[in-house]
Amino acid sequence: MKGFRGAFLDFIGDPFYLSELESVRYFPDGLLVIENGIIQALGNYVDICAIYPNISVTHYRDRLILPGFIDTHIHFPQTEMISAYGEQLLEWLNKYTFPTERKFKEKTYAKKIAAFCLDELLKNGTTTALVLTTVFPESTDAFFEEARDRNLRMIAGKVMMDRNAPDYLKDTAKSSYEETKNLIHKWHQNDRLLYAVTPRFAATSTEEQLQLAGQLLQEFPDVYLHTHLSENVKEVAWIKELFPHCTNYLDVYDRAGLVCDRSIFAHGIQLSEAEFKRLSEANSTISFCPTSNLFLGSGLFKLNRAKSPEEPIKVGLGTDVGAGTSFSLLQTANEGYKVSQLQGHKLSPFQALFLVTLGGARALNLEEKIGNFDKGKEADFIVINLQAMPLLALRNRGEIPKTVEEIGDRIFALMMLGDDRAISETYILGDRVSPSVSSTPNTIQ
Ligand code: GUN
Ligand code: ZN
Repeated sequence: MKGFRGAFLDFIGDPFYLSELESVRYFPDGLLVIENGIIQALGNYVDICAIYPNISVTHYRDRLILPGFIDTHIHFPQTEMISAYGEQLLEWLNKYTFPTERKFKEKTYAKKIAAFCLDELLKNGTTTALVLTTVFPESTDAFFEEARDRNLRMIAGKVMMDRNAPDYLKDTAKSSYEETKNLIHKWHQNDRLLYAVTPRFAATSTEEQLQLAGQLLQEFPDVYLHTHLSENVKEVAWIKELFPHCTNYLDVYDRAGLVCDRSIFAHGIQLSEAEFKRLSEANSTISFCPTSNLFLGSGLFKLNRAKSPEEPIKVGLGTDVGAGTSFSLLQTANEGYKVSQLQGHKLSPFQALFLVTLGGARALNLEEKIGNFDKGKEADFIVINLQAMPLLALRNRGEIPKTVEEIGDRIFALMMLGDDRAISETYILGDRVSPSVSSTPNTIQ
C-alpha cells in the first residue's frame, strides 16, 4: 500500500449540466491511497492519514494531482507526419497520409513509432487513448504489444478500407473481417487492452465492408466502433455521391448497424440537426478534435449543441495527431476554448478538464475503470506543476490555492499556456513511468 500527498482535483459529475459544487471535488491538501495499482481512498490528508497511519507517503508539495488524461481520437502511425503543410482533408490524405501509412506493413518499424507515440502520450499526461493503427494487422499487433509492455489501458483497431485508397493500402471486405476477428481474439480484454472495429470512414469502405463491420459488433457485443464522421464539406458531398440512397452521412453507418452506445465518431463538424438527434438517441460519442479541425480548415464543432441538456451527446476531446498539431490535451483544450469563443460560447476550465478526464472515460464507456479518484478505479494519474515555466509561474504566482474558484483560474492558465512541460510525473497503476526509453528520432529508420 502506498500514499500520495498533494492537491487533488477530479470530477464526480458533469460540469456542463451541474454546478461546480456538484461536479468538482477538490482537496488542497489531500491523500490518495493505492494498493496493487487500485485506488483505496482519497480525502483530506488529516482524515485519511488517521485511517492509514503507517502508510509510506510521497509528498508532492505545491503540485496538483489529476486523473490521467484521456485522448478519444489519435492515429499512432501519423506521429511522424504531424504538421504536413497546405492541404485540406481529402488532398491531405492522398498527399501525406496514405504514403506514410504504407510504411507500417513492416512490424519492426511500426513498433518503433508505436513506442515513440506512447512515450509522447505519457509525457503529455495521457494515460488512455482510442487509437487508429493502419490497414496492416502487423501495425495493430505492434501498437498493442507496446501498450501492453507499459501496462496501459488503451483501445485500438486495424483500419478497414477496401476502396478509394491506393492499392498498396487496401484490404477486402472479407480479409478485413477475418483479420479484425483474429485481432479481437488476440487483444480484446488482454490485460487492459480493448478493441475497436475501425472502418476508416464511409468513403473508403464498400457497403459490404461496413455490413461486415456491423456483423463484428453483433458477434462481439463489447468491442467498440471507431470511425470518422462529417468532418469536411467536400467529404460530405462525396459521401452523398457514394451513398445516394442514404438520407445523410450518419445514415450510412446506421444502415450497417454501426451507430450504438459503443460507437465513437471523430469530428462531426458538418452534422445536421437530424444527425445530432440520432447520435443522442443512440448514446454514441463524438470526439471533438479542435487542433485538427483548425489545422485542416475543417470548421468549428458545435460543442454547445452536442452537450445540449435536452438531447445530450457524449463528447470527449481528441488530439487527432497527425492532423492535430499537438499531443498535449492541454493545448487541445486551449484550441477548444477558442473554437467555442468563435461561436459565442464559453468553455470553462472545469468543463474542459472534465472532457479530458471523467468525460473522456464516459465517452469511452470506461467510467467504472478510470476518469476520477473513486475507490476501486485504476490508479493512472498525473502530477502537474502549475508554475512549470517562467510565464506560467508569473501568471500562477503564490501557493496552491485553497478554493475551487482559485484553482479553476490556475487551471485555465495551465490550459492556455501549458503543455508537456507542466506534466512533472505520470503514474500508471500507481507506478511512476520512467523517462523515455524509445530510440532517439534520428535512429528510427
Ligand atoms: N478521415 C479519414 N481518414 C482520416 C484521417 O486519417 N484523419 C482525419 N483527420 N480525418 C480522416
Ligand atoms: Zn482522425
